[in-house]
Amino acid sequence: MQSLSIALGERTYPIYIGPGLLSETALFEANLPAGALCIVTNETVAPLYLDTLRKTLAHRRVVECVLPDGEPHKNLTTLARVFDSLIAGRVHRDGAIIALGGGVVGDMAGFAAACYQRGIACAQIPTTLLSQVDSSVGGKTAVNHPQGKNLIGAFHQPCAVFADTKVLQTLPDREMSAGLAEVIKYGLIEDASFFAWLESAMPKLRAREERELVEAISRSCAIKAQIVAEDERETTGRRALLNLGHTFGHAIETAVDYQGWLHGEAVGVGLLLATDLSARLGLIDPSVIARVKSLLESAGLRTVSPRVAPEQLWELMQMDKKVSGGKLPLVLLNQLGDAQLRRDVDQELVLQTLRHYQP
Ligand SMILES: NC(=O)c1ccc[n+]([C@@H]2O[C@H](COP(=O)([O-])OP(=O)(O)OC[C@H]3O[C@@H](n4cnc5c(N)ncnc54)[C@H](O)[C@@H]3O)[C@@H](O)[C@H]2O)c1
Repeated sequence: MQSLSIALGERTYPIYIGPGLLSETALFEANLPAGALCIVTNETVAPLYLDTLRKTLAHRRVVECVLPDGEPHKNLTTLARVFDSLIAGRVHRDGAIIALGGGVVGDMAGFAAACYQRGIACAQIPTTLLSQVDSSVGGKTAVNHPQGKNLIGAFHQPCAVFADTKVLQTLPDREMSAGLAEVIKYGLIEDASFFAWLESAMPKLRAREERELVEAISRSCAIKAQIVAEDERETTGRRALLNLGHTFGHAIETAVDYQGWLHGEAVGVGLLLATDLSARLGLIDPSVIARVKSLLESAGLRTVSPRVAPEQLWELMQMDKKVSGGKLPLVLLNQLGDAQLRRDVDQELVLQTLRHYQP
């Protein structure tokens, strides 16, 4: 097992990574408050892992809340079910929510914990690769509104994160690849040697070999932990670097109305577009583009945009909630392993990049 901690003063918390953590009673005991616990999970994950977690926490008073699966359920109506379970189960401020699932469950459970009785503890047990390397770490919690994704939310750091790599064995291949897009992102923004390691380790990661999984998740979480510790609430621009590829990705997701493209798949193409744009601006050597494209392909990801007019994608990029003062902030690469936020990128150059990756 690997462990690291995210340094946020009195809100510092540990992240544990390794196979079989779901059964580690002592580890949970050491990191959970003494009161009643509410496990929040969904209809897909519950039949796979809820029973194991029940046994691990057998000596504790536990209530359960099993939600419907899927992003369309990440809303205030579903959230109300979590509050109903907490109230019916008499969970008080000395208790905790335990999120058992992917990013959708984690974001909803985290937001419920931020609000319930003005804030209770939340432990995250992320069960997708994306949630293990990204959404469970950093304290962003939210639900969607019909007008937009993650519009209603709060910063609420978990009390601990338990990333059990064994649960990834049941994750569908597409979801695995989507998570790998975020892993690749960390190499691009912060660590060229990690990117190079991924180039050789990718087949083993896709085969879900434990050693490589633990290494990839640990290095990803270490990078996210460092960046979040430096800029917890995205005020200095440092945390914004984690959005590499995301402005392009969000535009793709919106253009296809979230149909047929997973978030990580859109981010994967976004990483390639951001790399291409960085080369057009003369920031990086064009040879990096081929390396990024090849790594995305070996991760099972797409490298071509959906059939959407570049001008429409450009318009959608302007809608990104991070636009301020009319300027579109874009994360670009200075070199492999080093990113920067720019607000001065010429529209025509972005359109050239968008045109280049049309199907
Ligand atoms: N809070 C943050 O910082 C942050 C960051 C990135 C993404 N997110 C959010 O995360 C969400 C996406 O998360 P996701 O990619 O984990 O999707 P998800 O939670 O929808 O999970 C994907 C699918 O895999 C299933 N699943 C989960 N674990 C499984 C397992 N071990 N075996 C088999 N099936 C399993 C889920 O039930 C679901 O059907 C989005 O709502 C996004 O907004 C949040």
